Amino acid sequence: MLPRFPEGFLWGTATAAYQIEGAVTEDGRGPSIWDSFCAEPGRVKNGDTGDVACDHYHRWPEDVALMADLGVNAYRFSVAWPRVQPDGRGPANAKGLDFYDRLVDALADRDIMPALTLYHWDLPQVLQDGGGWMNRDTAHRFVEYAGLVADRLGDRVDVWITLNEPFVHMTEGYGIGTHAPGEALLMGALPAAHHLLLGHGLAVPVLRERTSGQVAITNNYSPVWAASDSEADLTAAAAFDALQNRLFTDPLLLGRYPGMGAYGVAAEPAFVRDGDLDAIAAPLDLLGVNYYSPTRVAAPRGRAAGSGPSVLREVERHLEGAGLPFEDVPISGYPVTAFGWPVVPDGLHELLTGLRTAYGDALPPVLVTENGCSAPDVPGRADRDRIDYLDGHCRAVHRAIEDGVDVRGYFVWSLLDNFEWAEGFDQRFGLVHVDYATQRRTPKASYHWLREELARYR
Ligand code: FCB
Repeated sequence: MLPRFPEGFLWGTATAAYQIEGAVTEDGRGPSIWDSFCAEPGRVKNGDTGDVACDHYHRWPEDVALMADLGVNAYRFSVAWPRVQPDGRGPANAKGLDFYDRLVDALADRDIMPALTLYHWDLPQVLQDGGGWMNRDTAHRFVEYAGLVADRLGDRVDVWITLNEPFVHMTEGYGIGTHAPGEALLMGALPAAHHLLLGHGLAVPVLRERTSGQVAITNNYSPVWAASDSEADLTAAAAFDALQNRLFTDPLLLGRYPGMGAYGVAAEPAFVRDGDLDAIAAPLDLLGVNYYSPTRVAAPRGRAAGSGPSVLREVERHLEGAGLPFEDVPISGYPVTAFGWPVVPDGLHELLTGLRTAYGDALPPVLVTENGCSAPDVPGRADRDRIDYLDGHCRAVHRAIEDGVDVRGYFVWSLLDNFEWAEGFDQRFGLVHVDYATQRRTPKASYHWLREELARYR
């Protein structure tokens, strides 16, 4: 049994629109950058696409019932921008919003609190045709879109998460091209980071004005371990920490960017205009934290790529010879998930307490908006790996709370096996198994484990 969590703690599952909905041409939805990316041969494993995914667009009542039976009191999902604005601008496509309207009401009927992510990487393709997040205007388009969703759901959605993991979107989508939109601009992708943050910051007052909910953003964090105490390795670790962790948190909480000199980036890049940082630093009610594993780095010395999170391995592979100021070093001595990510529950405690130390009172209350693991369906293992993973990480959250970090909730990634981006359907992160041929849902042992844990709070 897990230790007892505070009264009112949010227990949830998390999903994202493109990964589960399918129905990509229904009710006026326009194409997104992920539709285009999947259509390009070689981009996604096995040629998989989100065309059908988990068919959640039609099967959502069953999925809500699964959550109700699981006993969660919160659900994090994302709205597909191309359903709301197929053309990336202008008035809302009412039918697109109707879907989320029905979903939100069904959640309320089951006492499940909605936590809505506005942008989980599925940009309308027409905006990408105009440069996507490299174009400053996309930030303004995002604010318009946020307002449309707020006008429709603002009275019933409790938590509004503007963006999901801008680090991954910038790095994989615009830096190295392993995600949509498939651009490989290397460090030239930094304006995308700034425009994402600007879109977030400009949307905050709109959400405050037009909703009664709390406003948040979700970043993914990885505690960075230096390979040794040598000055060179410590410098490399600091450089990677600045890129993954601080680039997307310092401006939000401190109103300034971390120094990116290690990457040859000017202290005051031209794409940052007067007033931008004030907008980006608009006060937040909650910080969403996604955690999967730590990262170990050393000073670059031309060794083989390690076993760290795939983002870093991929960055390294693409930037070979580009003079990166760090190098990934394998983390050994821990079990690994099907994805090859090391399982380090203590890393989540380190991350949460580290955020508190780094940002002090500037750190708002935290929601762990994603944590989970992929595990294959191995007969005999009976989903034990996922249970161990979740058990260990929930305990780490509990310890962080005891150590004074204000953590308000924990969302398992994910409710269902789903479309895992460039990995297609190979990686299974669900508490519930999905047979993609029949769309049959079967709760796994980890679902039953969590159900039993949550029964104590009913
Ligand atoms: C995160 C994404 C989420 C899912 C998990 C495994 O980076 O936010 O959509 O793919 O990883």
